[in-house]
Amino acid sequence: MKESVLRLLKKGYPGFVSGEAICRSLGVSRTAVWKHIRALREAGYGIEAQPHAGYRLINIPDRLYAEEIAAGLPTGLIGCRIYHYTSLVSTNRTARELAGREAPDGTLVVAEEQTGGRGRLGRGWYSPCGKGIWCSVILHPPVNPVDAPPLTMLAAVAVCSALRRAAGVEAGIKWPNDLLVNGKKICGILTELSAEMERINFLITGMGINLNLTAADLPAELRTTATSVLIETGRPVSRVAVLQAVLTELEHWYLLWLQDGFAPVLARWKEFSVTLGRPVRVASLKESWTGLAEDVDENGALLLRLPAGELKKVVSGEVSL
Ligand code: BTN
Repeated sequence: MKESVLRLLKKGYPGFVSGEAICRSLGVSRTAVWKHIRALREAGYGIEAQPHAGYRLINIPDRLYAEEIAAGLPTGLIGCRIYHYTSLVSTNRTARELAGREAPDGTLVVAEEQTGGRGRLGRGWYSPCGKGIWCSVILHPPVNPVDAPPLTMLAAVAVCSALRRAAGVEAGIKWPNDLLVNGKKICGILTELSAEMERINFLITGMGINLNLTAADLPAELRTTATSVLIETGRPVSRVAVLQAVLTELEHWYLLWLQDGFAPVLARWKEFSVTLGRPVRVASLKESWTGLAEDVDENGALLLRLPAGELKKVVSGEVSL
């Protein structure tokens, strides 16, 4: 019900909406309206009240509330259900629990902060309150588990497009799915799969996108390797607007992948790549190689030209440029 009051205030913005009009439109008492206004103020909405004019919205909090994300979101699938939390250990962990309880395809889990954000290869992910997008999307792709790995590169394409379009940064993709700006990491993606031999139960795509962190917000050990939109452009960006762009792009590329396969996604991935054509070092869990990152194959594996001329196919690992 407080969402309906908010909708009316937004419709009336920047003017006043009378208490009586709200009561009439929602079929509730003056006391009920007042209670909802109080709840909205507690959630951070600025609402002016004037005895004869009614209520007027004066500001919207910088929070990733479900109703703010959903307002005007053009997607049908991704973000069809949104769970917002002030604080979580890890959105991937909560998404996994929700997926086990039948959360539908496209469900979004988002938190203002993570106290135990997880990264790839057992690392952590720094996720301070209100400074970025820390979120996970639950998917149920109707494919065999062996065909799921491209989804992690697909997510990178989606976030890269969204950052270029909605945040004005020239992000590029380091194989397989790190997003860099000027050589520093701005977004990391952690994809986790729950599957049986021939069937995917669910897949979680967790995205950590650094938006409004200053250099001073970053722990000293990350300052040389990490960046944010604010650091790169000097301007803070609307977290809601960037998240809406991410969800929109994710839906576009996901539906295209289901319909036409991985080739169109891979073509865009190559356009965004900052790895291909460069000398790199690749470390897997057991080995490491240096060579020229020549290409990726049709499944997204990195094709590395070793100094002796051999072409080495790498399916997982960490690239250093
Ligand atoms: C990486 O190491 O590059 C991947 C980082 C992924 C971080 C995101 S933040 C939201 C989601 N929840 C997590 O615990 N991790 C992912």
